[in-house]
Amino acid sequence: MARPLTVVIVGFGNFGQFLAKAFVRCGHKVIGCSRSDYTDVARQLGCGYERDLDRVLDRYRVDVLLLATSILSTESVIRKMPVDRLGDCLVVDVLSVKTYARDLLLRYMPPQTDLLATHPMFGPESGKHSWHGLPFVYERVRVQRDPERCEAFIDIFRQQGCAMVEMSCADHDHYAASTQFITHTTGRMLAELDIRSTPINTKGFESLLAVVETTVRDSFELYYGLYRYNPNAHEELEKMQRALENVKRKLEEYDARQSQR
Ligand SMILES: NC(=O)c1ccc[n+]([C@@H]2O[C@H](COP(=O)([O-])OP(=O)(O)OC[C@H]3O[C@@H](n4cnc5c(N)ncnc54)[C@H](OP(=O)(O)O)[C@@H]3O)[C@@H](O)[C@H]2O)c1
Repeated sequence: MARPLTVVIVGFGNFGQFLAKAFVRCGHKVIGCSRSDYTDVARQLGCGYERDLDRVLDRYRVDVLLLATSILSTESVIRKMPVDRLGDCLVVDVLSVKTYARDLLLRYMPPQTDLLATHPMFGPESGKHSWHGLPFVYERVRVQRDPERCEAFIDIFRQQGCAMVEMSCADHDHYAASTQFITHTTGRMLAELDIRSTPINTKGFESLLAVVETTVRDSFELYYGLYRYNPNAHEELEKMQRALENVKRKLEEYDARQSQR
């Protein structure tokens, strides 16, 4: 390991814990910090834990502050943070919507901090066994104080074999609306249909079941955040609805032609 980092993960829920486990495995020191009490979970993961960020900053020299809070709560969490005490640390976010996150970092973080916007495009399910080949999207929003520290953080994902994708937050949101948001919407739609495994599953149907499995495990709040804060998601939802209507219309037209024969 090039440089051991002290990382405080703000938002120690599902995804924050998943990242913590990997960071600890890579030899970094991790402190969780969240609204709920995760003291026992943190201990089991080999991390420290504090519910109060002031206490973390009193006790540790923090290299990286990583935001893994829900998309909807992030602004209010940041507004309550003692940002003036962050010194010149590297602030990273892992929110699944990037333009919004980038704007929050630029608006609220003090000028002496370095800023890195990231989206590991996998989670506790898809990255359970390995991160090999899974996309890690990032934009160095502002890296002036300590570029080497920022590279040491990015290297955690590189060393795990992630597919490293340096991309602007705007491009990320553009692509994510037509990939991630569509996947989540499809999963939730199929869950509404209550599709279930049968004794005669085809490969295609197995894939659909897997989409339901991976998407409905994420919180509805996360899904709503993708909709609310990805500027392209609303249009994508409209397109999906029109696409279903088009398919239905084509079937009905074809049916009508067949019955005229
Ligand atoms: N799950 C994934 O596969 C995945 C992948 C890539 C990126 N992400 C991103 O990672 C972040 C966390 O995702 P998640 O899967 O853990 O689920 P989530 O439901 O999006 O976020 C849960 C986290 O947000 C915190 N939180 C929620 N409301 C809060 C509030 N009002 N005040 C303070 N904290 C609040 C929770 O704190 P407590 O637990 O302390 O209540 C918990 O740490 C999200 O921004 C998401 O977009 C997730």
